[in-house]
Amino acid sequence: MIRLGINVDHVATLRNARGERYPDPVRAAELALEHGADGITAHLREDRRHIRDEDIRRLRTLSAPLNFEMAVTDEMVAMACDLKPHACCLVPERREELTTEGGLDVVGLQDSIAPPIKRLLDAGIRVSLFIDPEPNAIRTAAALGVPVIELHTGTYALGKKGELDRLHKAAHIAIECGLELHAGHGLTYENVSPITKLSGLKELNIGHFLISEAVFVGLGASVQRMKALLS
Ligand code: PXP
Repeated sequence: MIRLGINVDHVATLRNARGERYPDPVRAAELALEHGADGITAHLREDRRHIRDEDIRRLRTLSAPLNFEMAVTDEMVAMACDLKPHACCLVPERREELTTEGGLDVVGLQDSIAPPIKRLLDAGIRVSLFIDPEPNAIRTAAALGVPVIELHTGTYALGKKGELDRLHKAAHIAIECGLELHAGHGLTYENVSPITKLSGLKELNIGHFLISEAVFVGLGASVQRMKALLS
């Protein structure tokens, strides 16, 4: 069974749009877990545009695994070492982007990200690198000693020809390298099924579509339907 992590960032986006205290991303997380989600993902951005420090602290108190998405900065590494979430997913971050547009450039950045990765691993945190389905990136991730990679499915979700093949090849390389495979970005009811067939896939992290769908059918129903598609 593929695990489903629910990204609750966009519940916080809606809350912040009006400067209110609702909707509460922690309440959304609890509801998603009641309806079959296996874990919660949240990205604390440098500009705090959606999730805030207090949200992360409250999400950490839930009994389900928290996947703390973060940029590789001193501030975030210190916060992660203090909070000790179940997992940290390291992502690239640019202030002007609307969402995480591509994977982390692990090949170009390997020297600078090796020490923060070691700090997180030494703190007992399961580190995952969010990368594009590039053979070199996967091999570099393995050399950096992380146990997990999350493949960026955003380009596939946009319908680019050949992208599903790239993801299949990437999944095989991940297996050869002994890495646990996760994937996410841009996934919907319509495009998720081919992704569930990736060899060795253990977890999908899905946010924007399920939170959007919740407007129409409720969050419990949107999570349940996605969970059924993964089984
Ligand atoms: N995984 C990672 C690493 C992400 O950055 C995001 C987007 O925040 C997701 C998964 C979920 O993507 P989406 O919101 O498009 O489902």
